[in-house]
Amino acid sequence: MKYEQNSTGILVENFDAIFDAIHDDLLISDGEGIVLRVSPTFEDVYGVEKDRVVGRSVFELETEGVFKPSIIAKVLQRREKITMQQRNRTNRRIVVTATPVFGDDGEIKLVVSYSRDITEMVELQNQYMQLENKIEQYTEEINQLRQKAALENVVIGKSPQMVNILETIRRVADFDANILFLGPSGVGKTMLAKIVHQQSKRKKGSFIDINCAAIPEHLLESELFGYEKGSFTGAGNKGKVGLIELANGGTLLLDEISEMPLSLQAKLLKTIQDKVITRVGGTKEIKVDFRLITASNRDLEEAAGRGTFRKDLYYRLNVIQIQIPSLRERKDDIIPLIDFFTEKNNRKYGLHKEFHSRALEALVNYSWPGNIRELSNIVERASMTCEGDVIPKDLLPQEVLREQTKGVREVNNLNKAVEEFEGDLIRQAYKKYGSSIEVGKALGISQPTAYRKIQKYVGK
Ligand SMILES: Nc1ncnc2c1ncn2[C@@H]1O[C@H](COP(=O)(O)OP(=O)(O)OP(=O)(O)O)[C@@H](O)[C@H]1O
Ligand SMILES: [Mg+2]
Repeated sequence: MKYEQNSTGILVENFDAIFDAIHDDLLISDGEGIVLRVSPTFEDVYGVEKDRVVGRSVFELETEGVFKPSIIAKVLQRREKITMQQRNRTNRRIVVTATPVFGDDGEIKLVVSYSRDITEMVELQNQYMQLENKIEQYTEEINQLRQKAALENVVIGKSPQMVNILETIRRVADFDANILFLGPSGVGKTMLAKIVHQQSKRKKGSFIDINCAAIPEHLLESELFGYEKGSFTGAGNKGKVGLIELANGGTLLLDEISEMPLSLQAKLLKTIQDKVITRVGGTKEIKVDFRLITASNRDLEEAAGRGTFRKDLYYRLNVIQIQIPSLRERKDDIIPLIDFFTEKNNRKYGLHKEFHSRALEALVNYSWPGNIRELSNIVERASMTCEGDVIPKDLLPQEVLREQTKGVREVNNLNKAVEEFEGDLIRQAYKKYGSSIEVGKALGISQPTAYRKIQKYVGK
């Protein structure tokens, strides 16, 4: 590095190498404001040739409009370091910092000004702030939707079985233990899984509900685990986050888990054990923290015995097993559920419907193969099709009415069977004892009753 003497007699290092090496703009002036050095980029930034500037006073250059204003002039006046934002002639945003260098006599000997183009950074900052705003909006929206969903999730459960189930859920919700809900279709497995989530400490996280039977087998892996870009034909070129990853911080419900192909069960087992996933086509392990709930309307234990479901996976899932009985096994819930759904419809459509007691009786006696899903449909349909406010029995669907007549026929058959049995007894007794008094005594009935029955069955 060479030293040269400047106009004020100060030895100034020859900074050419440094000036050439850096991309940001540097400008050095002496204590009078005479420009000593500018970096090669000066012309691009200020639109003025280097030679027109070096050796001249920043005060003059400010008057000529080259600097608007000159930060060096300001430093010389204020005698302190200054930072300010400017726009250059191509309207780019730059941040300029100018620092005075004092000599032993306390006078400013040099001013070093350093400027940096922050247009991109400001742009990024703006984009970042816009994104942050958007995320805030979405978070707020999601919170509201969650609150709304939580309010809608009212569980009706008056029967001893449901009271028991709800109590179990209350007890286990906060532990992260895996829960397996078993029970026929429409009994409320998905709904109860949501209740577990809402009662757990994860309620602020997401609840991701995946129906393993609804996603085609060849897509299931990439849907569940996500994929890296270009990992298979048809994979988008951006890659995709898997549903399991979306459950991070929340609860993952794998519904109809019995339908998960064996080939994927091993990968799932690893995910459950290690709480990490690897995207399809990827090698990186991604940590995911979720509470696992599974549901099935098939007998998983039996499937595990048959070999269509991995035993080790079954044991992992089956930490807390909750069996939900079908509606016909908990008849105490039928009327409260009918009331609940009728009320819900009335509110939704501004109606005042109620079921006639005969209709209610038929509904209580119905076998409900579709369970609560069927019940809510029937209530809604009857409410919508009934003209008056009281829904009569004959407005109920055929399948309900058919079971009623079948029920009556069964009762008739029973009466017939009882009669046949009674007839046999009376005939035998009459043959043996020959009088209504003796028959009455032998069968433990009164003489007049014995007499009537002998007339009926023996014809005497
Ligand atoms: N105890 C309950 N109280 C109120 N509504 C209920 C109750 N149980 C279920 N439901 C409602 O009944 C419908 C069916 O329930 P859900 O979807 O949870 O059943 P599921 O057992 O998951 O059925 P599937 O086996 O078909 O997945 C839902 O609309 C749910 O909100
Ligand atoms: Mg379900």
